[in-house]
Amino acid sequence: MLVRRGATLLKTEKGAAFSIERAGVTTRRGALRAKKLLASWILLGCVACSRGSPPSSEAPPAASSAVAGHKESFGSVMAQVGRRFELSGRAAAANRFALAAFEVGELEELFESDVPQAELPKEGPTAHIPAMAKAFLDTNAHELEKTAASRDLGAFKAAFERAAMMCNACHRASAKSFIRVPTEVGKGVPDLEPVVGADAEVQ
Ligand code: HEC
Repeated sequence: MLVRRGATLLKTEKGAAFSIERAGVTTRRGALRAKKLLASWILLGCVACSRGSPPSSEAPPAASSAVAGHKESFGSVMAQVGRRFELSGRAAAANRFALAAFEVGELEELFESDVPQAELPKEGPTAHIPAMAKAFLDTNAHELEKTAASRDLGAFKAAFERAAMMCNACHRASAKSFIRVPTEVGKGVPDLEPVVGADAEVQ
């Protein structure tokens, strides 16, 4: 047994030595190829630079751009709010409460930092926005968080409905009542159900 094992070991060692030798050859050849590759890579990189398209990893985070004075628009923060809210409802309806809780947490963060820092819309009334956004954070976001954590679909649905009513109240006050947030979980945000007649009447 021992002898056979030794033989196998010897074979393996020989094999290993052989492949190391081959690897050495490939490495020398490979080095040349790698140099050529690097050169074309650098060239390509420069082309990308001059086109002004840096890799996404170098893009500045939203927070630092806000510090630099380039405020995020209210609409773009709201688009994120809409997506988080929609996903939280769809996740809860699918019994995926961990995901619902995650989305609600992200929604809360948006109302904590991004919404207050965003540039207010240029059209329509805006004076009510800071106070209503704070009320949403203190009451509705908190309620969503609690009910998602307790995995109670009934309670979550009720919190979701109250939150959607708050979203819509602020949209109405901002003269944006056409951005309607559905009060039921599982639907897309904003509401895109077909309507009959003038859409300003849809509430
Ligand atoms: C404090 C006021 C306020 C609250 C609360 C609020 N919104 Fe908004 N929302 C706005 C305003 C103002 C706009 C229009 C922004 C603009 O003019 O670009 C808007 C726009 C939107 C848009 C359209 C974004 C786009 O550009 O496509 C969506 C979606 C949206 N809100 C979802 C929500 C949801 C969901 C909630 C509740 C979870 C919510 N909003 C709560 C004020 C609010």
